[in-house]
Amino acid sequence: MSKIINAIRGMNDILPDDIYLWQYIETTLREVFASFGYREIRFPVVEKTQLFKRSIGEVTDIVEKEMYTFEDRNGDSLTLRPEGTAGCVRACIENGLLYNQTQRLWYLGDMFRYERPQKGRYRQFSQFGVEAYGFPGPDIDAELIAMNAHFWRRLGLAEHFTLQINSLGTSEERKNYRQALVSYLQTHEQALDADSQRRLSSNPLRILDSKNPAMQAIISEAPQLLDYLGEASTQHFHQVLRYLDNAAINYEVNPRLVRGLDYYSHTVFEWVTERLGAQNTVSAGGRYDVLVEQLGGKPTPAMGFALGVDRLVVLLQECQQLPAKQTTQVYLIMMGEAAKQQGFKLAETLRSSLPELRLLMHCGGGSVKSQFKKADKSEAQIALIIGEDEAAAEQVTIKYLRETKPQQTLAQDQLQQLLVAHFQ
Ligand code: HAM
Repeated sequence: MSKIINAIRGMNDILPDDIYLWQYIETTLREVFASFGYREIRFPVVEKTQLFKRSIGEVTDIVEKEMYTFEDRNGDSLTLRPEGTAGCVRACIENGLLYNQTQRLWYLGDMFRYERPQKGRYRQFSQFGVEAYGFPGPDIDAELIAMNAHFWRRLGLAEHFTLQINSLGTSEERKNYRQALVSYLQTHEQALDADSQRRLSSNPLRILDSKNPAMQAIISEAPQLLDYLGEASTQHFHQVLRYLDNAAINYEVNPRLVRGLDYYSHTVFEWVTERLGAQNTVSAGGRYDVLVEQLGGKPTPAMGFALGVDRLVVLLQECQQLPAKQTTQVYLIMMGEAAKQQGFKLAETLRSSLPELRLLMHCGGGSVKSQFKKADKSEAQIALIIGEDEAAAEQVTIKYLRETKPQQTLAQDQLQQLLVAHFQ
């Protein structure tokens, strides 16, 4: 026997027994998007490497060490998308979607990051992303945050989430803050861990995000970005908070929330949960008002977020908020060639007239006993049996597999009525 070839570490199969959770999330979120007036966009999984470097930032973890980058046969450097915002902006610019118009968009797709795999962190993972273009005000920030709150309520998970929010202000404000932060951290340089020492010159704001317990005392005493915001930025932030207050959406202002991608300005937020261990952020995003221009479009305010579907699936399982499974309703058992021919025709008729019915037709023959076993395993509520006698009389026998109801035999053309009554 040949040696088995396994999947790549951190890239998971989603098996038929689990897929209902994914479909449930997808259906629920699609309904929320429609109710908020957002439209779907699809763009490629692979883009030019330069797109991600220029948008996410050269000195971010994602670009420095997590991208799946390769040369194609042409010698061009391409990258499997590590996130969706860059591709979405590129697609909007390229297709003229931002020209004198606003856009409210969503996408669903797989993203790729070469991270160390653990529960809730994978190398191929699925994100729902939402991006809104052309809206400069705090109202859209609040709308996108509120959309998340609707997700959690619809999925029965509201009590498990906390919203953390911060403002990163403008790049000018961040520059001033950066100077203050660096001077403060330099006075503690000896106490910084290796990662933070490295970041001190490249990306000092990310030091605030350090999970190292030894760093927490230094970080908690550091100057706060919110104190460096100008009038307009402060007002924008307070207006967002007022919208949230009015909608009774609870939040924690977290002055250390900085996000791991460089394109953000003003409002940033993360929805975190205590039920997932270390990988506790399920949905995250913020405003990115300069990215469209950076990628060659005309200046366009933008705001968005992305939600990790894999983490949401784990959370549904952890919290036992599981939807009902869509199992088989009817299993069709047939004995003999004439019965098989009739059964096939009957299944076809039922599928045309009752398109919602979940009917499994036995294939491959076998004894009545083995066919009943399969019917039971399929979790069907009803077995339809066409044996030789039924075939001769164009009848069908109905056996109830999950309730104590006597079996009955009736004409095949009366079956539809019975099924409609049973499953209505
Ligand atoms: P992000 O924070 O990098 O933001 O990712 C958003 C979400 O994707 C995370 O909160 C998490 O749920 C999920 N996620 C990220 N990495 C992994 C992983 N390795 N395994 C499983 N899930 C993961 C962005 O991607 C931005 N594009 C969000 C955004 C959109 N900002 C503005 N618009």
